Amino acid sequence: MPVVRISDLSWGGEGISRIEGKVVFIPYGLPGEIVEVEVVRSKKNFSQGKLIRILEPSPDRVEPLCPFYQNCGGCQLQHLAFQRQIREKERLFKQALNHALKAEEILVHPSLLSPSGFGYRHRLQLKTAWENHRFKLGFFKAKSCQVVSINRCLLANKATNAVLEPLREKMQILGYEGWSPDIELQIFEDPHKGGIVFSSPYRIAPTRQIKVIKELREIPGLSYLVFRDTNPILESGGFHLFQKKDSPEYLLPVDPAGLSKDIRLSCFPGVFTQINLELNRRLISWLVCLNLFDPQDTVLDLYCGLGNFSLPLALRVKEVIGLEVVPQAVANARWNQEINRISNCSFIEAQAEEAVHQLKMLDKTVSWVILDPPRTGAQELIPMFASGDLKGILYISCNPMTLFRDLALLASKGWKVKWSQPLDFFPQTFHLESVTLLTK
Ligand SMILES: C[S@@+](CC[C@H](N)C(=O)[O-])C[C@H]1O[C@@H](n2cnc3c(N)ncnc32)[C@H](O)[C@@H]1O
Repeated sequence: MPVVRISDLSWGGEGISRIEGKVVFIPYGLPGEIVEVEVVRSKKNFSQGKLIRILEPSPDRVEPLCPFYQNCGGCQLQHLAFQRQIREKERLFKQALNHALKAEEILVHPSLLSPSGFGYRHRLQLKTAWENHRFKLGFFKAKSCQVVSINRCLLANKATNAVLEPLREKMQILGYEGWSPDIELQIFEDPHKGGIVFSSPYRIAPTRQIKVIKELREIPGLSYLVFRDTNPILESGGFHLFQKKDSPEYLLPVDPAGLSKDIRLSCFPGVFTQINLELNRRLISWLVCLNLFDPQDTVLDLYCGLGNFSLPLALRVKEVIGLEVVPQAVANARWNQEINRISNCSFIEAQAEEAVHQLKMLDKTVSWVILDPPRTGAQELIPMFASGDLKGILYISCNPMTLFRDLALLASKGWKVKWSQPLDFFPQTFHLESVTLLTK
């Protein structure tokens, strides 16, 4: 079997080497290592390798803590020392950013770090399956749709982990083989509250729903249980959810956020929340303290979700307008506005792509735009930033690939990237969050 030296790391966290000139990706290999590799798939331009033996390990190689690592596809970098993970991601980010914008040196600030490398998630999106009459609850295996059962996820907080095994057992007892819903588990620790959202392509009968609720509500720590496939989302067949009262919440405190008062954000079931709450708090305090915003500014927060950025920013500027496409998220943002008594903010239920139309109807001129799109990015929106009196755009992204594509498009419309700020929202994985400032 070939023996190769690994020269680099790919965006997906795989080692990169060459065999007879052809690139080979080697999962779980690290730069500098000499490894024995088996070529398992050969394509026209690259091959896929399997790490067989490490002959010379990297000094930054560490023993992965998770027993499911390399089987479960959730993490890609547990075998690399925590501090080195972010250095590598930052280096790749810088390199690809300069390449995408054909620039020499764009300012990339040192990453804002996650306070913890493990236990930082309050939300898990779990996959399920039935196999030989056994209910499996876990994540997909890497590059596969096969469910790997887990009874613990080291990225999740303690409260979430405490629910995993009881949840699997109860689903096993219910025994509805053929029903393999996706399960979103969201459990906050302080204060301890949370619940489950089931999504599946088809409904289970109402009588079965009631049995599910009866069985699962015995699990401590759950305050709601929702079937997303039944409309409305709050119809939970007997386990009544008073979403304004029962939803978990997180705090953006005055200190260190630099806000004039504490902000409390309630999170309705199924609505997007930033998964690393500690770092989200740091992000918001950093954003608010940036001194970009003027008290006379009007900010348009596209993709605003439950108001995570809109509401703290409203304390700094004249007005914030949030746009969001999911009705439940808009209701959530409006509720958050109400409980925090913030009056200079409004939330519109609309596609971000309709922003120009919405602003015309409101007769508003905007000074700043915040873009925080899903992983697919905001390509369709770029033409709308070609003209106007905008001072700048803050592009918050969880996917560098679509970010670079959109930045190149913005650059072609005359926008310049002033700087980028990576944030280590997702330790142990290859994912990277970033904020990029663009001005004309
Ligand atoms: C990455 S999340 C950001 C949410 C919020 N900024 C936060 O920090 O919690 C993206 C949000 O965009 C919403 N969304 C997705 N597609 C959209 C569209 N075309 N127009 C408006 N909102 C959209 C999603 O529902 C989600 O709430």
